[in-house]
Amino acid sequence: MGNNKRLFIETYGCQMNVYDSEVVLSILGAHGYSPCGSLEEADLILVNTCSIRDNAEQRVWGRLDRFLQEKKKRIVRVGVLGCMAERLKQELLSHPAVDIVAGPDTYRELPAMLLRLEESGDKQIDTALSMKETYADIEPVRTDRNGVTSFISIMRGCNNMCTYCIVPYVRGAERSRDPQSIVREAGNLYKAGYKEVNLLGQNVDSYLWKNPENPTETVTFAQLIELVALIAPDLRVRFSTSHPKDMGNAVLYSMAMYPNICTHIHLPVQSGSDRMLEKMNRKYTVESYLERIAKIHEIVPDAAITTDIIAGFCSETEEDHQATLELMRRVRYDSAFMFQYSQRPGTKAARHFPDDVPTEVKTRRLNEIIELQSAISLERNRECIGSTYEVLIEGASKRDSGSLFGRTSSNKVCVFPALGHRPGEYVRVAVESCTSATLLGNIVE
Ligand code: SAH
Ligand code: SF4
Ligand code: F3S
Repeated sequence: MGNNKRLFIETYGCQMNVYDSEVVLSILGAHGYSPCGSLEEADLILVNTCSIRDNAEQRVWGRLDRFLQEKKKRIVRVGVLGCMAERLKQELLSHPAVDIVAGPDTYRELPAMLLRLEESGDKQIDTALSMKETYADIEPVRTDRNGVTSFISIMRGCNNMCTYCIVPYVRGAERSRDPQSIVREAGNLYKAGYKEVNLLGQNVDSYLWKNPENPTETVTFAQLIELVALIAPDLRVRFSTSHPKDMGNAVLYSMAMYPNICTHIHLPVQSGSDRMLEKMNRKYTVESYLERIAKIHEIVPDAAITTDIIAGFCSETEEDHQATLELMRRVRYDSAFMFQYSQRPGTKAARHFPDDVPTEVKTRRLNEIIELQSAISLERNRECIGSTYEVLIEGASKRDSGSLFGRTSSNKVCVFPALGHRPGEYVRVAVESCTSATLLGNIVE
């Protein structure tokens, strides 16, 4: 079926969605669909969606209207995948542009759904969640353009039930993927010339694989990163996201032991107020979080620490907000992703806590958080001036064609004149200046 059809896939949301789109390209590639560069050329348009905040969903509704215009011009099929498909189900299927709705655990069914659509003309939907699916045996078709760094999903779902978060509802229960399949995938990437893999999970510290044949045989996350690090000394290993309630010292010791495990930890704090953390069901306190930070500094002294912060969660007071700013000043994050609270239907917060911080207050608090963080990021980057770092080159600099960009082990973006070097090479860069987002320097031999 589907001989020589062209597939255009558009991806929203997190890195896991980027990876899932690569899985979908692989599944449909085996059924005659090859990727194309624009929706105007496509026989099938897929949009892989995100539900984390309301604005993520609004963008997709806008895209569906655009796809409908395309459908009025010619024959083209449209499918909605991912978290919004899982959350909204029939409501999405009712949109006149949409032919197929498929949740995150149903991508193996896509070829059969497309076949049924062609045969019957009926819209198709499958949003079943799975306790087992990890797509472990599927070799994704990479969509990164650099051939240097790639994502690998090591687990799916989430069991944490943070009260504001939609992910456990749309991604289902947590499952860990077979470590052998992860190591094989990373090894194949290395053979194909990749120099960095980024291991993905909503809470990587709770990764735990049990051998189904022998449940006493287990692999923890700290063991997994060592297995991947052992593939080759010049294959970098990154991971995210770490959860403050679960990140143990074993992971830090693995990082300290293997120079190719990158010295960066993304440790979302969400708030600096114990009352908010309790209400969010994060299961740590400011004190225990700071204890984790102290351990990172002790065991991996040069590690960069980044975070996520939510401004204006239910009942957040000015005092709670000040506590967040205070925590940011104490930790001095290298960078942060910062958001306004967005109520998600069906979550515990939506059911039980009024969304009572006025929008203008949320916006003002978020702006204060962003302003403080950019000042801290700039200070942090200034501390790098005068030092030399090993940088993995990823590609040409967007601003200056004679320059390249890459990342330090601590995940800082670094821009420098090319001097004949190429993506995929490691170079040593002496940092001479910076902005709050970028280090600028020169290659030293
Ligand atoms: N699993 C990761 C985060 C996944 S979602 C973790 O637990 O840290 C990425 C970030 O989106 C979260 O860290 C949080 O800061 C933000 N987020 C999640 N739900 C949100 C909501 N309802 N409103 C605003 N931000 C939200
Ligand atoms: Fe959402 Fe919490 Fe799970 Fe992260 S750990 S995905 S914030 S429920
Ligand atoms: Fe969004 Fe789903 Fe990722 S809700 S953030 S795409 S897991």
